[in-house]
Amino acid sequence: MDTSQLWDMPILEFHPINRALMGPGAYELIGVEAKNLGFKKTLLMTSGIKGTGMIDDIVGKLEHEGVETVVYDKIESNPKDYNVMDGYQLYTENSCDSFVSVGGGSSHDATKGCRVVVAHDGRNINEFEGFNKSENPVNPPHIAVSTTAGTGSETSWAYVITDTTSENAPHKWVGFDDASVCTLAINDPVLYYDLPERFTAQCGFDVLAHASEPYVSRLNMVPSLGPALHAIKLTSEHLRTATYDPHNFEARRGMMYAQYIAAQAFNSGGLGIVHSISHAVSAFYDSHHGLNNAIALPRVWEFNMPTHYKRFADIAEAMGVERNGKTDVQMAEAALDAAIELLRDLEISENFEAVNKETYPKNRMGEGFYSQAGVKIEPDDQNIDRLTNHVLEDACTPGNPRECYFESVRPVITECVSGKIY
Ligand SMILES: [Fe+2]
Repeated sequence: MDTSQLWDMPILEFHPINRALMGPGAYELIGVEAKNLGFKKTLLMTSGIKGTGMIDDIVGKLEHEGVETVVYDKIESNPKDYNVMDGYQLYTENSCDSFVSVGGGSSHDATKGCRVVVAHDGRNINEFEGFNKSENPVNPPHIAVSTTAGTGSETSWAYVITDTTSENAPHKWVGFDDASVCTLAINDPVLYYDLPERFTAQCGFDVLAHASEPYVSRLNMVPSLGPALHAIKLTSEHLRTATYDPHNFEARRGMMYAQYIAAQAFNSGGLGIVHSISHAVSAFYDSHHGLNNAIALPRVWEFNMPTHYKRFADIAEAMGVERNGKTDVQMAEAALDAAIELLRDLEISENFEAVNKETYPKNRMGEGFYSQAGVKIEPDDQNIDRLTNHVLEDACTPGNPRECYFESVRPVITECVSGKIY
């Protein structure tokens, strides 16, 4: 049999997602839900969400239903391996039986990692990089409460951790693991009202990446295509308003749904090098995942466009571009223009060189791994090379529709670091 005509990935897998509660007031049910799931003593993991009163509120609701709650609030952006291991230690010291995460992707991802570590008697989280690395799929139950619209981690089988073992070669890796899927997601737009303008915009571009990457990915997972396109439409319709009119319910709810269905799309439909580039830049500079995606997205769309003009034309339509007799190629180019317009409207930096003020200046109170973070992202050869190599090793790269080589990807990285799009 001549198999040379078969696609790269002829047999695809649909990955299940968890139960979810959505809508205003959904988070009020957390105590009852935790009790019904059998939680007796839970570890609540969060980045702190300082000044919102949200954590005290949720702890109160849990304890009102008799669920004793221990809080770990030191999770950093781009959660580090030590965040996961610290959480594990607290979980075992306090004989907890369950997890609650409150926040965005960092809180949910670190908590998913913690559950995997609990199931493997404290083995280091960095041993679980890659696809379905859990040897023991049974781990503690987990309710994930979202306060952002971006990550989709409350829904997906993915979690992302930064390995800080090597001082000179930090590595931000992805675990795609069916055992990491949460027990229950709570996506309440009311909790998203407090997300500041800048993070609303940046996280929104994570949604656009989660939706557009599976729509053109090499997996070509048909069940992902509808949700992907609809998430693009919702993001185009609602992200500007959610950013600049934070108490606009329709916009906040629209983005919450966009996050949720975009996660369903990439969960089985795969990602691409928008994410790989984002992980690489975070690995070395600890910069925000959504911000990295926003900068990488137009460059990667342009790079991938020749493989999928028709699909990018569909994306343009979902973003509100009218056909008016345009060819697919013209429509695809219009999709790129629409993405750049969205970036500009949301006042997002046009490249990584321009973004240095927006990196996280000193994590872990200046003592941790990235105490030097905030240094300038330089366009020098050595830096571009290390970013390119990190991209080529990323678990999202095989899903990218255009073949990725060092020589083909390196110019894309250079564009992201110092190119002009405005
Ligand atoms: Fe993402």
